[in-house]
Amino acid sequence: MLSLVLPTYNEAQNLPELLPRIDAVLQGMPHEIIVVDDDSPDRTWQVAQELSTTMPSLRVIRRIGRRGLSSAVIEGFLTAKGNALAVMDADGQHDLTLIPWLAKAIDEGAGIAIGSRYTEGGSVGEWDERRHTMSRIATRLALKLCKVQVTDPMSGFFAIRRDVFEEALPRLNPMGFKILLDLLVHVDLQTRVTELPFTFRSRLHGESKLSRRVQLEFLEYLYDVTLGKYIPLTFVEYCIVGTMGVVVHLAAYFGITRLLLREGDLTLYGFSVAVLIAIEVAVVFNFLLNNAWTFAYAKLRGLRAVRGFFTFNAACLFGALANYSVSAFLFSRGHPELLSVAAGALIGVIWNYTMNRLFTWRSA
Ligand code: GDD
Ligand code: MN
Repeated sequence: MLSLVLPTYNEAQNLPELLPRIDAVLQGMPHEIIVVDDDSPDRTWQVAQELSTTMPSLRVIRRIGRRGLSSAVIEGFLTAKGNALAVMDADGQHDLTLIPWLAKAIDEGAGIAIGSRYTEGGSVGEWDERRHTMSRIATRLALKLCKVQVTDPMSGFFAIRRDVFEEALPRLNPMGFKILLDLLVHVDLQTRVTELPFTFRSRLHGESKLSRRVQLEFLEYLYDVTLGKYIPLTFVEYCIVGTMGVVVHLAAYFGITRLLLREGDLTLYGFSVAVLIAIEVAVVFNFLLNNAWTFAYAKLRGLRAVRGFFTFNAACLFGALANYSVSAFLFSRGHPELLSVAAGALIGVIWNYTMNRLFTWRSA
C-alpha cells in the first residue's frame, strides 16, 4: 500500500483541483492520502476535511501551534499505514504521473525513490535566476553531507520504504524544509536510492513558503550536522553577540564621557561611573540579543524575562571572577601576559555561556 503525505500551509485553493487528480492517478493501486495542515489561516484543513467526505482514501491532520514542512511530513509518515511512504507539494508543482513509478520503485526493492529535477531528463522549469542560484548552492552544500550519492537531495518529492524511514527516525532533525536531505544523511549506507526525472512546474495558486527563515534554518542545519557536533551553534551565536557587546560597551563609554561629562576634566570618579554604566549597557544589550536570537527556542517573556535578566547578571559577574582568577593564576605562575589574559577571557566566556544556558535559558 502507498501512503501519500501532502504537507499544507495555505493551500486551500489548490486542494480542490489537486486531490481529485491525485486520486484518479492512484486508482487501481491500494493507497491513502494524508493531508497534514498547520492550522492554515486560509482554512486549508477545512477544505481538506470537506473533500474527505467524498474521498474515502483521504485523511486530514490539523496541527495546532506547530509549523514546519519536515515535521509535518514526519508526522504524516508516523500515522501512515502503507509500506511505501511518499510526499509531494500540495500546489501542483510535482508531476502526479510519477507517483505510481515512485511506489513501483519501492516495491521493487529501492529504499528511497526520488522525483529528481537534476537527474538526466529532469528540470527545474521556469525559475527566476535567484531561486536557481539558491537551489544550486543549497544542493552543492547538501551533497557534501549525504552518505548516499544523488543529484537532487533537496527534492520535496520522494517515496521511502517504511523500514528505512523507521530506522532513521530517531536521528532525524525536524526543522525546516530539508526532510529528504536529513533522511539521506541518516539512512544506512547500504540503502538503495533511485532517481526518476521530472520537470518542476509552476504553482497552481498561491506562493512559496520557502522563506528567509527557512533558508537560515537550512544553514543552521548544515552547521549542526558538521562542526556543530563539536561546538554548539548557540555557543557561536553567543560569541557573536558578545563581540557586538564589546562594540556597544565602547560606544556607551564614549557616549557617556563625551556627551554627558565635559571633556578635559574626566576624574577617576567620572571614568569609573562611565565604565560601570557602559558595562551594564553592554550586559543589557547581550541579554536582549541572546534572548531574541541565541536562545530564541527558550525565549523569556514578562516576569520571567526580568528574573532571567538578574540570573544573567549574576552569571556574568561570576564569569568575570572566573576570568580574573584564571588569568591572575596563570600570570602569577610566570606564563606570558597575553596568554594569561586570553585564557582567562576564554574561560570566562565558556563559563558565562554554560551558566546562562543552564540557568537563564533553561529550555522547559
Ligand atoms: N504543514 C506544513 N507546515 N506544510 C508546509 C509548511 C509548514 O510550515 N511550509 C510549507 N508547507 C507545504 C506547502 O503548503 C507545500 O504543499 C509544500 O509544503 C512545499 O512548500 P512550498 O512553499 O510549495 O515550497 P517550494 O515549492 O518553494 O519548495 C519546493 O522545492 C524545495 C527545493 O527547491 C519543495 O518541494 C521543498 O520541499 C523543496 O525542498
Ligand atoms: Mn511548492
